[in-house]
Amino acid sequence: MPGLAKRDSCFLSLLLDMATQPISGQTRVVGIFGDPIAHTRSPAMHNTAFRARGLPYVYVPFLVRPVDLAKAVHSIRALNLGGVNVTVPHKERIVRHLDVLSAEAELCGAVNTVVNRDGTLFGDNTDGRGFLVSLQERGLSPRRREIVLIGAGGATRSVLVSLIRAGSARVIIANRTPAKAQALARTYGALGKTRVEAFPLDVLRDPAPLKNAALVVNCTSVGLHGEEFPALAYAATPRGCLFYDLLYRPGLTFFLQQARKAHRPILDGRRMLLHQGALAFSLWTRKPAPVEVMARALTRALRQ
Ligand code: ATR
Repeated sequence: MPGLAKRDSCFLSLLLDMATQPISGQTRVVGIFGDPIAHTRSPAMHNTAFRARGLPYVYVPFLVRPVDLAKAVHSIRALNLGGVNVTVPHKERIVRHLDVLSAEAELCGAVNTVVNRDGTLFGDNTDGRGFLVSLQERGLSPRRREIVLIGAGGATRSVLVSLIRAGSARVIIANRTPAKAQALARTYGALGKTRVEAFPLDVLRDPAPLKNAALVVNCTSVGLHGEEFPALAYAATPRGCLFYDLLYRPGLTFFLQQARKAHRPILDGRRMLLHQGALAFSLWTRKPAPVEVMARALTRALRQ
């Protein structure tokens, strides 16, 4: 925008981001199924992206109770929705209601994006790919590296599958309940060349499992409400080891505060949220996502 001061051009792009897109007979509805759903920032991110690209889509939140999931999935076909994102608590349970799964969704046993292809419902999982893109942005390739994952729930599974597909050398899963970490190691250890090992969370007090780590990821919910994180030998990691918290909240989580104190690079979950959304955008529209427009919308939504 020649002739405009940088501040004016930023303001103009903000206004363009916020301009409304008229709803017409051509409008395609997409959205998100979850319970609860009121907190979701995805509508802000996607509607801004659709407007920026001039695409006739609208993204809406759907509060879907677990008991109504089958009916809600049926409504994707009945109402000819373009597709939906899927969040807690439906990511796993929706799998059995879909027609086709991507390899990634099949491996994770979880779906975060559904695409309606003429009544055939295709389930994909963009969480792991979004995670990998966020690493790539930081110049970190997990290939042939050692990674430590903390937690053994659904988030761990998506990240683990993406790391195995990316060719990591070794993944250590540390969890409060070791049996859950062992179950993941058994299921996914045979999948690729990655060595997958399970430990109780306490082992991360010792330097040994951390001394070759290129990346340590918090995949638990610990820290979401400002609570302390279990003890961890942060400074035992190599200097460039990235501490990645999949959570995002105003201010740093305790996990990231401690990593910063140990002078290690840090990253929170916003870029993963952004990139899983950008990948979903492209699945629905078959167009590249306006990633930085979406990032700005997400930042604004997270401030509210
Ligand atoms: P998600 O699907 O988001 O990964 P989840 O399946 O509920 O969520 O998993 C939550 C993870 O956070 C689990 O690994 C859980 O540990 P347990 O398997 O021992 O339950 C971990 N977690 C939750 N609260 C924790 C706490 N206070 N200390 C340590 N780990 C905790």
